[in-house]
Amino acid sequence: MKALITAGGRATRLRPITWTINKHLIPLANKPMIFYAIEKIAAVGITEIAISVNPGDTEIQKFVGDGSRWKVKITYIEQTGGPLGIAHVVNNARSFIGDEPFIFYLGDNIVLGTLNRFVEKFQREKLNCVLALSKVKDPQRFGVPELRDGKVVRVDEKPSVPKSDYAVTGIYVYDKNFFEAFTHITPSERGEYEISDIHTWLIENGYAVGYEEITGWWKDTGKPEDLLEGNQLLLTEMNPAEMVVEGEVATSAVIHGRVKIGKGTKIGERCLVRGPVVIGENCIIENSYIGPYTAIGDNVEIYNTEVEHSVIFDYVDINCSKRIVDSMIGQNATVLSAHATLPLGNRLIVGDNAVVEL
Ligand code: DAU
Repeated sequence: MKALITAGGRATRLRPITWTINKHLIPLANKPMIFYAIEKIAAVGITEIAISVNPGDTEIQKFVGDGSRWKVKITYIEQTGGPLGIAHVVNNARSFIGDEPFIFYLGDNIVLGTLNRFVEKFQREKLNCVLALSKVKDPQRFGVPELRDGKVVRVDEKPSVPKSDYAVTGIYVYDKNFFEAFTHITPSERGEYEISDIHTWLIENGYAVGYEEITGWWKDTGKPEDLLEGNQLLLTEMNPAEMVVEGEVATSAVIHGRVKIGKGTKIGERCLVRGPVVIGENCIIENSYIGPYTAIGDNVEIYNTEVEHSVIFDYVDINCSKRIVDSMIGQNATVLSAHATLPLGNRLIVGDNAVVEL
């Protein structure tokens, strides 16, 4: 079995962060999001993985490399013609996949647990396709299955009136009949080849489409709040063996719960760090509170500030005597106190599509 991961698309809902970084490289619990997808696939024993990228993209290749760190071989495939839909991603990878069954994994999905049961179901029941379903509050954001007598009878993409409260998540197993289905679908109103149309076609043409429910946690990281929730989950689930303090902690600083502190980082006087928290390398934190579900990248400086439930990228400077919550702060950003310089007031240099709540 092979695997294909998506890393293209436009990610407009995550701007401004995605103006300068591919969505799939956004760090969650201090690790690029796509690494979690690769880990899951490598854990089922698959060694041949392709990653689909936008034409001309070289950023993913730089971060992910050839796969040797996961003991897999990674090939990159440019999505010819650009982001024309996720069914198009698969069809575009036809020569990589050949006639083998494959896992298709949307690189912006985060899931707990292993992928084994999806693969086992596919093999045991000799299916043509397995869908992973998850109960959601807002099915109209997703592909939604219509279920009858325990079977999927069709799938609608982002329906205004959903026929169930399930989402088809971004983890799929297929055989080569996917490519036959692709020849029968046309772009939707939004101009994309929809994966849901593939599923409906397979079902209506007598192919065996099964499903497994994800009862644990699953997240499609389409919006900033999804990323924060993903970060929270991944911090909660981090292997306790990884939660080590390699930096320096001042004697008056207090570290509570599961906290990872990278090499060269200094937690100075009057600090409280309450886990789960990860702090990268070469950071300085002084007179500050770092609260649960915060991930801080490398080379960050934080003075006189409280930060909680947030993702702070590399090289950020914060010194603002405020409480920062539920925030994502991109690389090289500076957050300062307004009364450091005159005239008093809030001075903002904010990039396109930024969100600031004062
Ligand atoms: O997350 C599950 C949902 O994913 C499913 O329920 C939907 O049926 C499915 O269509 C998809 O919906 P989204 O609107 O969330 O898809 P999105 O545009 O966010 O793209 C999903 C992934 O595929 C993401 O990694 C970006 C990548 N992508 C997307 C497009 C449209 C590409 O690589 N190329 C593309 O052309």
